[in-house]
Amino acid sequence: MSDFAALWAEIAEIGRASSGGYLRYALTPPELTLRDWFRGQAQRRGMTVTEDGNGNLFAWCDEPWAPGTVLTGSHFDSVPHGGGYDGPLGIVSAFLAVDRLPERRKIAIGAFVEEEGGRFGVPCLGSRLLTGMITPEKAAALTDRDGVTFGEALGSLPTGKSAPIENLAAFVELHIEQGRALEVPVGVGSAIWPHGRWRMEFTGTGDHAGTTRMTDRRDPMLTFAHTVLSANQEARLTGAHATVGRVEAEPNATNAIPSLVRGWLDARAVDTATLDRLLESVLKRANERAGVDGTELSVVAESVTAEVAFDTELARRLSVLLGDAPILPTGAGHDAGVLSAHLPTAMLFVRNPTGVSHAPAESASDEDCAAGVEALATVLESLT
Ligand code: GLV
Ligand code: MN
Ligand code: MN
Ligand code: MN
Repeated sequence: MSDFAALWAEIAEIGRASSGGYLRYALTPPELTLRDWFRGQAQRRGMTVTEDGNGNLFAWCDEPWAPGTVLTGSHFDSVPHGGGYDGPLGIVSAFLAVDRLPERRKIAIGAFVEEEGGRFGVPCLGSRLLTGMITPEKAAALTDRDGVTFGEALGSLPTGKSAPIENLAAFVELHIEQGRALEVPVGVGSAIWPHGRWRMEFTGTGDHAGTTRMTDRRDPMLTFAHTVLSANQEARLTGAHATVGRVEAEPNATNAIPSLVRGWLDARAVDTATLDRLLESVLKRANERAGVDGTELSVVAESVTAEVAFDTELARRLSVLLGDAPILPTGAGHDAGVLSAHLPTAMLFVRNPTGVSHAPAESASDEDCAAGVEALATVLESLT
């Protein structure tokens, strides 16, 4: 068994559901178990473990926050029934890459909290706090589906931008590729599409399904359904991506017209202008349809992430270092995108033969993962 396969096997069953996917929400037992595993791996290598007060964990080969440190790593949390590689692959690979370096270097491994926003709604929450992109007060008040706040789950108010991130020389995140874009084992990231999440609430009148005449209804489900279709149409027209993957209805009864439908729009596009245009068209059509249905619509932007272009020179340099590895953009969000506004940042992608992600079928071969480890070690050695 390769050292990758052996280390991967240590975490492969943690948080695995009967669907074959993972339930590894931030700061819940499976994710806490993975954090303990992280501490154990760091200790085994003589690395110092620190926490930043925001829920992010770090393991340091040298002094914590020593100037010139190169940070690598990713996240442990998953979307509901997500794949096992999205996140943990970057952390497992980081420990193995450190093992390959001939001597101790100024390298640190990070495990960022709530990257997916799967529990508290805002993606990359840990890196947003670390870089000051969200205030500790706002983050602390974010609430999960059971009414638990992030502050409660963390056990304290996050500390926000308190660590000297300017001491980091670079951040390199290795990640499973999440589309069907990479045809060789390892690629280098160039950019992240601008993207965001909008919570749409459609309000109507709850009433009896059997006795209310069709002409007398104010049914928010109708407005919602039209909005889902128009988001899909507008995305196809503009080359953007629009998804409604989460919906709640009240009272959620088979024999009652709903009084409220809440749906989350995830929209992404190659550039900000296209994303803005998509959103404008979808909301215009939703409001027009609300007029027809006699319903009301309110929209809240839960998170918006600007377009990210990774350090072009660094990406080129890493591509050459890795034997002309392809350089490719992604529509997926990453902590690397948040950190890229503050320090030179790069991403390495590992081939995903199914092209599926955020679902149980996400996959990578042990051979490609081992190639990812070698690539990461080469990159860390060259940067330190
Ligand atoms: C997170 O992985 C996202 O891109 O939604
Ligand atoms: Mn993800
Ligand atoms: Mn990820
Ligand atoms: Mn992500």
